[in-house]
Amino acid sequence: MIITDAQFISSFPDYKQCPKPVIPEYAFIGRSNVGKSSLLNMLTDRKKLAKVSSTPGKTQTINHFKINKSFFITDLPGYGYAKVSKTSRELFSGMIADYLLHRENLMCVFVLIDSRLPLQQVDDEFMKWLGEKEIPFAIVFTKIDKLSTGQIQKNYETFERQMLKWWEVMPHVFFTSAEKKSGGDEIIGYMQENNAAFVLPPK
Ligand code: GTP
Ligand code: MG
Repeated sequence: MIITDAQFISSFPDYKQCPKPVIPEYAFIGRSNVGKSSLLNMLTDRKKLAKVSSTPGKTQTINHFKINKSFFITDLPGYGYAKVSKTSRELFSGMIADYLLHRENLMCVFVLIDSRLPLQQVDDEFMKWLGEKEIPFAIVFTKIDKLSTGQIQKNYETFERQMLKWWEVMPHVFFTSAEKKSGGDEIIGYMQENNAAFVLPPK
């Protein structure tokens, strides 16, 4: 699949105001500044579709984009950055949790993780929460251009070891760089596969 059409649809703080859940949806979430908005721009090949900033906390609402007129992707506020964004406790009770728990057309949550860091507590707790709520997710490592191939491999091994203390198997993982525009095709292919399994939620 090639993304030929990407349209900004809406920006709301409450899942109840979001567009009707009649097509599949994929959410992109992660710590503030991890590169969510940059990744969305890379996937859609649009420089300014989602707002990017070097100041953490740029995205503060649930932003819907319609892709190829057939599915939604959402850019969400970041979490886990001191002062500006949510701690894990707030994360599990606030607007992001409400959105994730109630959005019936959600096919997969892409959890973005900075490839330079070991597993952070807030990401660990968030993924465990997703698991407990049976919300499907995949991991997207970001900013791999900042590491050598050897470092990417080494960091991943550490990360995997930490994850497997809790999880029986690793979720799907993707390695990306918005800077070098790499890793996007795999994510788009994954969304396409999931689209085929979409069932219209009951009214
Ligand atoms: P919030 O909306 O504040 O939660 O941030 P975000 O996760 O949407 O991050 P955003 O896309 O705004 O990017 C944050 C900073 O990281 C910006 O300065 C980006 O230019 C930079 N950045 C994002 N992706 C990459 C990448 O793949 N490589 C490099 N080198 N920098 C990146
Ligand atoms: Mg953002």
